[in-house]
Amino acid sequence: MSASEPGPAVDGTIAAGTNPDITSILVENRRFPPPKAFAAAAHLGQPETVEELRQRAALDPVGYWCDVAKTDVRWSKPFTQGLDWSDAPHARWFADGELNISDNCLDRHCETWRRHKAALIWEGEPIGANGPEIRTLTYQQLLVQVQKFAAVLRSLGVQAGDRVCLYLPMIPEAAIAMLACARIGAVHSVVFGGFSAEALRDRTLDAGAKVIVTADAGYRRGALLRLKDVVDEALTRNGGAACVQHVVVVQRAGCEVQWQAGRDAWWHECMAAAPAGMPPTALPAEHPLFILYTSGTTGKPKGILHTTGGYLTHTTRTARWVFDLRDDDLFWCTADVGWVTGHSYVVYGPLSNGATVLMYEGGPAFPDKDRFWDIVQRHRVTVFYTAPTALRTFMAWGDAPILKHDLSSLRLLGTVGEPINPAAWVWYRSVIGGDRCPIVDTWWQTETGGILIAPLPGVQTCVPGTATLPLPGIAADVVDNQGKSLPADVGGLLVIRQPWPGMARTIWGDRERFAQTYYGRIAGMYVTGDGARRDADGNFWILGRVDDVLNVAGHRIGTMEVESALVSHPHVAEAAVVGRPDALTGQAIVAFVTPMLGVQTSPALAEVLRSHVASEIGGLARPAEIRFATALPKTRSGKIMRRLLRELATAGQVTGDVTTLEDFGVIEKLRATDED
Ligand code: WTA
Repeated sequence: MSASEPGPAVDGTIAAGTNPDITSILVENRRFPPPKAFAAAAHLGQPETVEELRQRAALDPVGYWCDVAKTDVRWSKPFTQGLDWSDAPHARWFADGELNISDNCLDRHCETWRRHKAALIWEGEPIGANGPEIRTLTYQQLLVQVQKFAAVLRSLGVQAGDRVCLYLPMIPEAAIAMLACARIGAVHSVVFGGFSAEALRDRTLDAGAKVIVTADAGYRRGALLRLKDVVDEALTRNGGAACVQHVVVVQRAGCEVQWQAGRDAWWHECMAAAPAGMPPTALPAEHPLFILYTSGTTGKPKGILHTTGGYLTHTTRTARWVFDLRDDDLFWCTADVGWVTGHSYVVYGPLSNGATVLMYEGGPAFPDKDRFWDIVQRHRVTVFYTAPTALRTFMAWGDAPILKHDLSSLRLLGTVGEPINPAAWVWYRSVIGGDRCPIVDTWWQTETGGILIAPLPGVQTCVPGTATLPLPGIAADVVDNQGKSLPADVGGLLVIRQPWPGMARTIWGDRERFAQTYYGRIAGMYVTGDGARRDADGNFWILGRVDDVLNVAGHRIGTMEVESALVSHPHVAEAAVVGRPDALTGQAIVAFVTPMLGVQTSPALAEVLRSHVASEIGGLARPAEIRFATALPKTRSGKIMRRLLRELATAGQVTGDVTTLEDFGVIEKLRATDED
């Protein structure tokens, strides 16, 4: 554990503190213009109109977003103010307006013919004698459930502004609980079901959640994920979380659970007793909607706070334009609701548009490697949105499981979460998309709320490997460390020069950290933490993180968190964590560990430490590799030289500048301990 070490570019990433100029050697000449039939039916199919719109939005971004907010969102009290930046960098959008997100996602559709349209089509993972369990909720049915659960939350004492933690599998109740919170102005904090008790406890405490909504268990990869057990542990371990008064438990698997009378309640029993018809509460546009924890470079995870009016404006518009959502689409975003993609493009964006969303509980290889394609074929999915790491896994499994199925219903494909290598992009287009579907590579972050850079598929030519252009109203740029725009083909920092409605408002409980992290590096600009370059056509090529955040299988993991977990083990004296490229997961975690004096290192200890990290943070943070070392390479001022560790982990040797290294012998020793 130590501050990051400045250094030059390594593997397409740019270390902080150096001149970020790097030249990319990747040249991609393949171009895929929109298919004629696709463009003819698209929301945006006229390049000239879109060009004009882009220009207008660039001249007056606030005016542009005000128009979007008026057309895409239903307000119970219209707003008269666009952006209020007087408390910069804490933005306020449409601040004097009032609305309710569940009203926008449900009630407004139930007043139209969409009332009986499917909102959610859900499929469970297990396959019984009659196939998988499938539940369909029309907009009307979803509304009734949300109204009831909103009443349940109220009966448990939840008021507007109170926090509710959701620790759930991918089941309809996750969406119902989110929308029910939104209906009464409670703030949800969804914690991914793969996180450990410790991580759940930290997040629950930080948010000060009054209620946790969970399930007895969920199904994942043919196994039971016992969520209620984890909640019980989180509420007792290390002093527990005294803020939590109630735990509502969905009976998903029917397995045995521990029960604490007075605290625990069954979802189905509460719902049976709940009154119908709870109306939506009109909330100020800046009322908090949710907190979502994400990894930072240092310290504990950051509770990213999103609010109501701006977030809904942004997600509604981007869902419709980027995914070209139509009433006859079946949209499947494979992300878990525990991540921001699940918030913005499983729940809020698509439902606000009145779309039909497919939700799947489980993994892609259960019972066989063709499960996703079986789902696409059976349900006739039309728009499919997933992560590059999943695509690389499918590629590795070979085309046979895909070719077995009729995927002709698909008309548009999307990716998110990490850079997609052109080979995977082209494979996606040809094998899954039948050379027929445009691909939208969408760049965004937990902090941005919704998509910022992506093609508009009816008008733009797609180029494998680039998210192409910023959406209208988004002022993205590539700059040097001083904030000066860089010319084409020079790598630098990806920044956003102007506020946008979906941007995070702050870090929960830490305004200063928000300002420092995102606006502290270059005055007046949102610094994304990603490196990028623009090509001569203006397309943005994302080069990966420039800070010490790893991207493993599309999930951001702070090196600091993994290091803290490692040093919390009594046998560990010091630890440094780096990422190395991995064919499947994008990056894999390599941990360099100095054991306590007298501790015997062994493959068994490495295994213990890997499991220790998994139990502290969750399986997604389990290091792929642990390397023991008697010392770590440090500068004279005592900073761990991660750049050297990255080189060792990636190339097996150090070729870069070592003039600041304090002890040259350390590198030799590290190389000699490769066998662990
Ligand atoms: C990376 C996920 C390249 C990037 C929505 C970003 C991408 C981080 C792309 C955010 C993309 C996301 N191309 N890189 N299309 N999309 N990233 O907060 O490094 O989980 O900063 O949000 O993922 O991850 P987060």
